[in-house]
Amino acid sequence: MEAYTEAVTSGLYAKQSGLVGKYDNVRRLWEDEITRHFLHPHLKRLIERKQSCMQRIRIMDLGCGSADGYELLAGVRNRDADLQDFEVALLPPNVLSVYKGVDLNEELITQARGIYGHDSKLVFEQADFTQGLPLVENEKPYDLYFASYGTCSHHNEDETLIRLLADIASRVEKHCLIVCDWLGRYSYAWQSLWTNDLSENRNMDYVVSYIYEKEERERRRDELQHLLLRLVCRREADGIVAEASKRAGVEIKPLEYFDRSVFTGRHMDTGDYNPNAQPIRLAVNSLHEANVRTAPSSLLVDYTPKAGFEFINDYFEHLQMCWNALVLYVDELMRNYDVQKRAFYSEPPPIPASYPPALREMMERMKLVVEGVGWLGLGLPRENIIEPQLGYALRYLEMKLQQGLGCAHGLVGIFEVNKD
Ligand SMILES: C[S@@+](CC[C@H](N)C(=O)[O-])C[C@H]1O[C@@H](n2cnc3c(N)ncnc32)[C@H](O)[C@@H]1O
Repeated sequence: MEAYTEAVTSGLYAKQSGLVGKYDNVRRLWEDEITRHFLHPHLKRLIERKQSCMQRIRIMDLGCGSADGYELLAGVRNRDADLQDFEVALLPPNVLSVYKGVDLNEELITQARGIYGHDSKLVFEQADFTQGLPLVENEKPYDLYFASYGTCSHHNEDETLIRLLADIASRVEKHCLIVCDWLGRYSYAWQSLWTNDLSENRNMDYVVSYIYEKEERERRRDELQHLLLRLVCRREADGIVAEASKRAGVEIKPLEYFDRSVFTGRHMDTGDYNPNAQPIRLAVNSLHEANVRTAPSSLLVDYTPKAGFEFINDYFEHLQMCWNALVLYVDELMRNYDVQKRAFYSEPPPIPASYPPALREMMERMKLVVEGVGWLGLGLPRENIIEPQLGYALRYLEMKLQQGLGCAHGLVGIFEVNKD
């Protein structure tokens, strides 16, 4: 019987679920992948640039936690890989010179060392990034300064982030990329905090309540720790970076901004900051969960507008209309499919030409998916093929329609310093 105790204490005997927790399906299949998608062209150019000088890439992860950022970067794939290709990583170990993770939290650093300590290219150090760039004397500058999953929002005062960015820019020898990741000011999940006056609600009182399931969350509510996190919109991010450029006397050029997790942010499920928020993340987690069937109605978004924010309301309403149209279309396709005859009972109506291209594209694809596997029977085609594909199609809509303005859980900015 001790064999079971041993198995349980190893942690590897725990029940795995993508429906809840830090590494739920949305984190792994949406948030990590969306981030990789937007990073891909910039990282590819950076690697090509380094390789053309016969150099490998040096990465510093600011606020690395347990080094999830390394996993994220190492998971960026070549987009043009054919089906038969097996080695598809854009950043294989032989391209990496060093990954240095810094974090204030000693326990996380210990955890990171526990996971990656065997790899001498991955080094971890405890440091406070609000005190400037944590470089020791004679330490060579890095090619990529990376911060992920809201880490830049730990700069509660802009001054500390401006100083950090200015430090990075002035120490660059020739060229580097900087990735900043904040909490978006206009996330629907915290609509109660929206303000047009950017001097208000700069930092939110953030509770990591979402890692627990509903009942557990309520039970623990009073004992949960609170964090103060800066909310940032595009205009504020531009201002911070422009000020850092001025301070360093070197241009920090914005290359791209993107919004990540528009209807699928963590706090959509808790409703802690918006009583109208619906548990859309849970529904999308269910779409991607093996052997689980998802009620299409659980995916339908009913966005409640906020007066005085017309531009933002228009954006959310447009995305909601596209999102719901796709969900309802796929539901209708499945109802209309005759498994025995391996064909639709009646030809689905044509997709209106007036629909946005991204929506039309996803509707056409989902028709092919339902037609292609509806008859399969083996391996639960609805649960394990059609629903995950619907998840990816909804993800595509979020990615194509987002505007990088701070209208989602995360706002990510990719910047370049080029002294060449
Ligand atoms: C939202 S977590 C992100 C962790 C990790 N990058 C990831 O992607 O999962 C923010 C991290 O920033 C770290 N952090 C917060 N304030 C910091 C500071 N002043 N200096 C260094 N790290 C800090 C926290 O300890 C935490 O690990």
